[in-house]
Amino acid sequence: MKKRLIVIGAGLESIPVIERAAEMGLHIVAVDANPQAPGFAYADESVIGCVYTPEVTVAALTEWSKKGGKPQGVICAAVDAPGTVAAVAEHFGLTAVSAETARLATDKKAMKDRLKERGIPIPWYQEIFTPAELEKIIDERRETLVIKPVDSRGARGVLRLVYGSPSMPDPRRAFECSQKESPSGRVMVEKHLEGPQFSTEGVIINGKTYCPGFSDRNYEFLDRFAPNIIENGGDLPSFLPQDAQDAVKELSGQAAIALGIENSMFKGDMVIHKGKPYVIEMAARLSGGYFCSHLIPWNTGVDLLGSAIRLALGEIPAQDELSPSFQKGVSQRYLFPEPGKVVAIEGVEKARAVDGISMVEIRTEVGAQISPATSHPARAGVIMAVAENREEAIRITEEAAALIKIITE
Ligand SMILES: Nc1ncnc2c1ncn2[C@@H]1O[C@H](COP(=O)(O)OP(=O)(O)OP(=O)(O)O)[C@@H](O)[C@H]1O
Ligand SMILES: [Mg+2]
Repeated sequence: MKKRLIVIGAGLESIPVIERAAEMGLHIVAVDANPQAPGFAYADESVIGCVYTPEVTVAALTEWSKKGGKPQGVICAAVDAPGTVAAVAEHFGLTAVSAETARLATDKKAMKDRLKERGIPIPWYQEIFTPAELEKIIDERRETLVIKPVDSRGARGVLRLVYGSPSMPDPRRAFECSQKESPSGRVMVEKHLEGPQFSTEGVIINGKTYCPGFSDRNYEFLDRFAPNIIENGGDLPSFLPQDAQDAVKELSGQAAIALGIENSMFKGDMVIHKGKPYVIEMAARLSGGYFCSHLIPWNTGVDLLGSAIRLALGEIPAQDELSPSFQKGVSQRYLFPEPGKVVAIEGVEKARAVDGISMVEIRTEVGAQISPATSHPARAGVIMAVAENREEAIRITEEAAALIKIITE
C-alpha cells in the first residue's frame, strides 16, 4: 500500500512538492483553507483546514483519518506553517520539528533570543510596545533600523527606516503599519545590517549540515518600494567566493541546530555585514518562491524536495544525494506592475520563447486589481532562466522580463 503524506498548504507554489511526492509513489493528502486551492487538483485527497491554525488542521485530519487511515509523514510546502506540521506530527506520532522548535522559528523575538543565547551573530534587536519607544530608539541609535511584526511572513509590515532620509516614514505610522500585520499585535525593531543578502536552504541530518541551496537575493527595488523591503528574485551561483559561501552555510546550520532543527529542513535569510556573516532569520521548513523546487535543482542537480520528503517520512536520505553535482547559472525575477486595474497583458509568449527561459508564470489577469507592492504576495508573475553561468542567466531573465507588459490604469 502507498505511504500517505500530508502536505500542509496547497497553493500554487505547493504544487511542485505535491508532484514530487506523487512521483515518489506516495498518496498525498493536501490541506488548505481555500477549497479552490490549485494544489488540490494534484493531490489524491483534499482536506479543508487553516494551515496557520494547528488545532483546526489537526481536527480536520483526525476526522479524515477515521476513513483515510494513518499518515506516515507530514510536510509544509511554500507556507510558513511549522507549528501546524509539529502539531500534526505529534498527533499522529510522525517525524517533524517539535512544537518548541516551530515556535522559535516563527516568533522572530523568541528566535533572536535563542540565537543570541547560543552566540550566533544577529543584528541588535528589541521588542517595542509603543510608537514612543520607536521614536526614542531612533533618536538614541541614529542609524538605519528595520521595524517588523514579531510573527508575520512574506515581508508584510517589514519597513526599513533609513535614518535621516526623506523616505523615512513617520515613526507612529510605521509602528501602526507593522503592528497591524502581526496576528498578536507584537512588533520589534532591529538594526538594519547593510550588505549583500543570501538565501540558504538545506537539511540537518544527525546533527550535520547539508546546504545545497545558496542564492544571492536581489534587492534592486529597495528605493522603489521604500520603506517596504521587497525581494526581486535571486541569482545562482552566488558571486561570493567559495570560502565566504562556506562560512554563511556553516552559520546557517549552526542557527538551525540552535533552534532545535534535527533531521529536518531549514531555510536561512543571511547577510554579510562588514565582512562577517549574520543571521536575519531561520525558518524550519522548505522555502517558497520555487527556490527548493526549481532554482536549487537547476543550479546544482540536488533533489532537495526528495530528501525533505524522505526526512518527513522518517527516512534518512543518502549524503551524496545532497551534494551538488554541477553549478549552472540560474536567475529569477518577479513582475511588479504599477498599481491599478489590469487592462492588458502583453508579450508573455515572446518572453517564453526567449532561449534559456525555463518558466514564465503570470499570477494576474485582465480585470484584476494590482495593489501597491507592500509584501511578497503582490508579485504579479515570475520569470526564471537557466544558462551556463550566472551572468548569462541574468541577461536572459532581464530580457524576458522587459518583454512582458502588464498594463494597468
Ligand atoms: N535587520 C535586518 N537587516 C537587513 N535586512 C533585513 C533585516 N531584517 C529584515 N531584513 C530584510 O527584510 C526581509 C524580510 O524580513 P523578515 O525575513 O524578517 O520578514 P518575513 O515577513 O519573514 O519575510 P520573508 O517571508 O520574505 O522571509 C529579510 O529577508 C531581509 O532581506
Ligand atoms: Mg524572512
